[in-house]
Amino acid sequence: LSKKDFMNKKVLVTAGPTIEKIDPVRFLSNRSSGRMGYELAIEFANRGADVTLISGPTNLEPPTTINKIVRIESAEELRQKVLEHFEDSDIIIMTAAVSDLRIKNYSEQKLKKDKIVNLEMEKNPDIIKELGKRKRDGQILVGFAAETENLKENAMKKLKEKNMDMIILNDVSRKDVGFEKEENEVTIFTSKEEHRLEKNHKRIIAGNICDVIFSTFF
Ligand code: PMT
Repeated sequence: LSKKDFMNKKVLVTAGPTIEKIDPVRFLSNRSSGRMGYELAIEFANRGADVTLISGPTNLEPPTTINKIVRIESAEELRQKVLEHFEDSDIIIMTAAVSDLRIKNYSEQKLKKDKIVNLEMEKNPDIIKELGKRKRDGQILVGFAAETENLKENAMKKLKEKNMDMIILNDVSRKDVGFEKEENEVTIFTSKEEHRLEKNHKRIIAGNICDVIFSTFF
């Protein structure tokens, strides 16, 4: 018997990488298979939530239990779609690995080699930071942090500066968990609490994350 602890809750999950096109043949991206986000979306749906999954390009099969799947490529497209669904969501989980940079001028023609060594870049919008500013009482904003050093310090800084309610830390310097792996090991922080989730399959980790969200906020 599955617990339906997220019945009547609207949950927005982002997953996968964004890609920023350079020219018709090249792009800039971030490492992410989308698996962690997809497993979270599946878990929330199993527990009764009304889930919208916004996904960057992945090789994963679209989950059959989720009827609202929105595809995006760039961070700007992700931002648009997230903002479209944000108002209506009770829980927002940003698992997506958003590219921090984009190319300033997309080239319609394939660039010659001497041009691609001097590409001009600009910053992408910080989507979760914008959500942190717009958030209303009762909305729960959960971010991820992919870090390689000063793990807790960097995660806590993001939690605070972006006005998140919870942050899930991934140590991406490890080879056995994190991006593209079947398994993950994370630490969850709120401003007051810390929960360490031992290494496990991402489906189990997703279940544990749902349990912590439920016990913390409901
Ligand atoms: O997809 P998998 O292969 O299963 O791997 C999962 C994962 C390791 C990618 C995932 O668990 C993870 O850590 N995702 C977040 C990666 C990331 O972009 O971290 P960050 O520390 O750069 O960003 C912090 C938070 O801000 C994230 O919630 C991110 O979605 C968000 N962000 C980042 C940049 C930006 N411009 N806008 C954002 O909203």
